[in-house]
Amino acid sequence: MRLLLSFCLLMACFSCKETPKPIAKKPVRGVITQKAMVVSAREEASKIGTAIMQKGGNAFDAMVATEMALAVSYPYAGNLGGGGFMVYRMANGDTGALDYREKAPLTSTKDMYLDENGDHIPEKSQLGALAVGVPGTIAGIFEVHQKFGTLPIKDILTPVVELANQGFVVTEKQEKRFQHYKELFLKANKDTIPILKGYQANDTLKNPALANTLQRIIENGRDEFYKGETGQKLVDFIQSYGGIMTIEDLNKYEAKWRDPIQFKYKDLDIISMSPPSSGGICLAQIMKMIAPYDLADYGHNSLKAIQVITEAERRAYADRSFYLGDPDFVDIPVDTLLGPEYLKNRMSDFSFDRATSSTAISHGAIPGYESSETTHYSIVDTFGNAISVTTTLNGAYGSKLYVDDLGFFLNNEMDDFSAKPGAPNMFGLIGAEANAIAPEKRMLSSMTPTIVEKDGKFWMTVGTPGGSTIITSVLQTILNVKEFGMTMQDAVNAPRFHHQWLPDVVVFEPNSFDPAILKNLNAKGYEINEEESRIIGKVDGILALPDGSLEGGADKRGDDTAVGF
Ligand code: DON
Repeated sequence: MRLLLSFCLLMACFSCKETPKPIAKKPVRGVITQKAMVVSAREEASKIGTAIMQKGGNAFDAMVATEMALAVSYPYAGNLGGGGFMVYRMANGDTGALDYREKAPLTSTKDMYLDENGDHIPEKSQLGALAVGVPGTIAGIFEVHQKFGTLPIKDILTPVVELANQGFVVTEKQEKRFQHYKELFLKANKDTIPILKGYQANDTLKNPALANTLQRIIENGRDEFYKGETGQKLVDFIQSYGGIMTIEDLNKYEAKWRDPIQFKYKDLDIISMSPPSSGGICLAQIMKMIAPYDLADYGHNSLKAIQVITEAERRAYADRSFYLGDPDFVDIPVDTLLGPEYLKNRMSDFSFDRATSSTAISHGAIPGYESSETTHYSIVDTFGNAISVTTTLNGAYGSKLYVDDLGFFLNNEMDDFSAKPGAPNMFGLIGAEANAIAPEKRMLSSMTPTIVEKDGKFWMTVGTPGGSTIITSVLQTILNVKEFGMTMQDAVNAPRFHHQWLPDVVVFEPNSFDPAILKNLNAKGYEINEEESRIIGKVDGILALPDGSLEGGADKRGDDTAVGF
């Protein structure tokens, strides 16, 4: 009788749920440490950051070292010539965010990437000197150091100078990328550049020019980059390539402390990046729209879970494209966009029967409107402080312009502006007036460095590169742990999907989703794309385990590594 009852219960359970693709394999934990950890795109950078904390430094000292070590060993995205965002949570619960995003040069204009017919010329905002925004990274690390640093800048950066002088070991992925971008490097630069010297996997790549630049920065501080010899060389270089940046642009650059976006998702408190990144607002909108649905019951990557997440993403990205831009230039109706009534209303036309069409959706109406590359790292220190940093040159190696004399690449962040209303940028994102180009304005970002608290305590730090897919990758990683009970490592490795309103297509990582579910989605009116072999995010995170230890999640899609003690 009892057996029969159990059987009936089991069957009832199966019939009330659709059957998600079972996660067959045993959970895999990432690297576990007891006190401190850095997870980043390169082992060298994670090691240098960790060593700073072993010397007694805090997460902020480690941030300065890790950021610069990535500039040396991961020139794809690590940078001096780009910018980024940091979100932090101190051991006492204080939170904050730093914006060291690039700015448009003083003489930039709204139409600078349009031809005489008013059409957008993507190459102008993506390749070469005109694509370069005023870099913020050096201002960012000095701002962090001034406010929170405990070790002298010399002690923090000397190991990075040594790394640049002694060199780092080229990985297979790096060898392939150097080759892949060869033509564009040659197109953007007048001459060949050092990384085209035919480096192969396991070769050592030294960068003495960058070591010298960093040494001058150690000696002269932030002004070396914005007012000194390095700054002058930088603008001379950019101008010799037809760029418009001047020494005045560098002089005027300031990193800015911002209030992060903070919101609740069930029993979690989430702290994420505020504008000029869209990351925090979009993440909050999506999570608030999906909160009423029982994702855990639907199952990981099940039909219903994919539908709910996709529809929330569609609506959030439509709002992003209309309302969001640099808060120093445009009023963003943050409270309304994150308000429960507004979001409930946004999802009111969603049905499990049929996909909503993106052409039918547009941005939400607000009553009285108040007028490919990046890298992420996560750090937790021995004092209980946590930081989450995403930094970028925008595209892979940015504008592809390499300042030989200084040893680094320059960003092409200007492409993150909306060059023309309705014209997609390199991530297919569409923008409006709020993200139009203006002198000294910051271009809208999708970077989503995020920290999650549970029961008032630090729980997770997480983030990723991936352009427009950043927000959805961070979302799915948090959900993987919270709703689907995954380890941090499994959560970052799990297959991801992405929707961004326009184009109206759901992108799936190839060969990772149940074909029956994809077929079903298609029948409900979703356009599916899993052919384009595109990586959706490359997430690095740290999770606090119940016993107080730390688990690193280093994405298997890259060379990412967790190091700690
Ligand atoms: O700020 C942004 O949203 C973009 N510049 C990020 C670029 C990026 O993640 C490229 N990586 N794949």
